[in-house]
Amino acid sequence: MMYAAFRSIGAYVPAKILTNAELEVMVDTSDEWITKRTGIKERHIAAADERTSDMGVKAAELAIKRSGLAKEDIDMIICATISPDYFCMPSTATIIATKLGLGKVMAFDISAACTGFVYALSIAKAFIESGMKKNILIVGAEKLSAITDYTDRGTCILFGDGAGSAVISATEDKNEAIIDIHTGSDGSFADLLMTPNGGSGSAHDELDREAAGCYMRMKGNETFKVAVRTLTADVVEILEQNNIESSKITHFVPHQANYRIIKAVGDALELSDEQVVLTVEKYGNTSGASIPMAINDIYESGKLQQGDLMLLDAFGGGLTWGSALVPFTGKAIH
Ligand code: UT7
Repeated sequence: MMYAAFRSIGAYVPAKILTNAELEVMVDTSDEWITKRTGIKERHIAAADERTSDMGVKAAELAIKRSGLAKEDIDMIICATISPDYFCMPSTATIIATKLGLGKVMAFDISAACTGFVYALSIAKAFIESGMKKNILIVGAEKLSAITDYTDRGTCILFGDGAGSAVISATEDKNEAIIDIHTGSDGSFADLLMTPNGGSGSAHDELDREAAGCYMRMKGNETFKVAVRTLTADVVEILEQNNIESSKITHFVPHQANYRIIKAVGDALELSDEQVVLTVEKYGNTSGASIPMAINDIYESGKLQQGDLMLLDAFGGGLTWGSALVPFTGKAIH
């Protein structure tokens, strides 16, 4: 039996920082409101000529290097993004594969918003366990600034850009195996968080991006309540079904949307502050990139060690959600 192991992590954060003080000048908001309601102090914004694929490539280069594999060993790439280089085709994954020089590997994008990385992880696990692939590169990359309306204070204070990537490899060692992944969705909540236009369900002959509805819209408070409920239920279920006490989790890595959501879920699981990974303060919400960026943070700070058990928990537009119990099998940085 082949198992899937989480072999390595990498991330990329664009240089430009957008602070709460700068947003105070752009919309009717304040550093105090943003900090108190979300925990966010700043977010990073990609350069005008920097695409989602460019950020994905930088994150992936690190993940491949840290995996100890050669590029030729990678036999598939999945990119989770809601801000692809091109909305219909080609996929951002194919562009990343070519920029990386990965050859003619199978490459595709998935659309599961902030849950994208966990969905990609579950697809990678299935391909590896079935024996179809051996080393899969998964990438969560977002240029959310390209679909953010900087006149809408309900969303523009939240989102940032960045990318994270991981290599998932086949192993025969059961101790290294990703233990379990739960995923779900409910399209009846589609209107809570959406980019209304640009798809086949909409007229898109108007070119005014705002009028044409090309920006993200969110019913923040309703989304908040469903997020807390769903994220908590999801992790309680995966822990119970696998007979794992929350005290055994080394790192709880939730989607970084809002400090208050993370705190509520962490409290429900009776997790200590040391177990909960928090990056929302410096990156904001980077959707599909948020979980791998957070994993990379604990990796680069030396907190993530070989054998540590991670509990991932994501929630996003769709609505979609997912959780995963993942031992880290890569070499620690320190
Ligand atoms: O990543 C995918 C999933 N996304 C999420 O999980 C995000 C979930 N939602 C949230 O994080 C929060 O709902 C927000 C941070 C978006 C909003 O926080 P909230 O505590 O739910 O605020 P609210 O929407 O209930 O608004 C409270 C007040 C309103 O004013 P009134 O009606 O009480 O006078 C808003 O108009 O705060 C106002 N407000 C703001 N004030 C200053 C909304 N946005 C802002 C702002 N600055 N940026």
